[in-house]
Amino acid sequence: MNTLIANFKMNMSPEETKNYLITFLSRYESDKLDLTLCLPYTSLYVGNYLCKGKGIRIGAQNLSDEETGRNTGEVSGNMLKGSGVDYVIVGHSERRKKFKEDSKAINRKIKVALKNGIGLILCVGESLIDRNTLKTKEVLKEQIEGALKGLYENELERVIIAYEPIWAVGTGQTPSAKEIDSAVKEVRKVISDDFSEVASKSIRIVYGGSIDSKNVKQFLSCKNIDGFLVGHACLDANEFLKICSLVR
Ligand code: 13P
Repeated sequence: MNTLIANFKMNMSPEETKNYLITFLSRYESDKLDLTLCLPYTSLYVGNYLCKGKGIRIGAQNLSDEETGRNTGEVSGNMLKGSGVDYVIVGHSERRKKFKEDSKAINRKIKVALKNGIGLILCVGESLIDRNTLKTKEVLKEQIEGALKGLYENELERVIIAYEPIWAVGTGQTPSAKEIDSAVKEVRKVISDDFSEVASKSIRIVYGGSIDSKNVKQFLSCKNIDGFLVGHACLDANEFLKICSLVR
């Protein structure tokens, strides 16, 4: 339990990111925590500059599913790598919904990222309707198999799966530790069936959805997860520092 990922989403100008990081880094203790800050594209430079040598990875929140070419406004894997990005989020429910990203596009993005030496944070999770109609396992299987189609087992070393139930993102609601455990067991089962038992045990899985410094404690005992993906609670440096100290 030592992986922590912050998704800043569409928040903070470069100047605001700079001020945030100055506060955060002045009290951050890097030992024991594998921390990745997924910043907006426009803050990658300042993030890299200030976090250099501090044992913190810099991540992005999206990439193009194409390598290069006439794609106005898109950002390629090669551009991200050149901006010092170690990890990129794919399959986030906000992008699946608003930008209609399906499993095929997510699979292409994953392949582009891996080709450029960038690791993945693959978000999967069920909607409230899926949950209420007992389709959680089915949805997780479809999302994982679609996203990881055609990957070699050794490439999974560069993949972190984030179990983020859609109904828990930004709502203040969370599943119980038991519910997380059951969903994550399913994720590991799919990896075991499609790759190997070794891969299913070693792949890193984090939980995301309304995590804050008050509720994180109740999930620290979840043996099946390796850490957390934090959204709104990372935006306040003091709040996020509390989470870091609880998780490490
Ligand atoms: P919240 O922590 O704000 O619910 O967001 C979670 C998330 O979407 C992280 O990717």
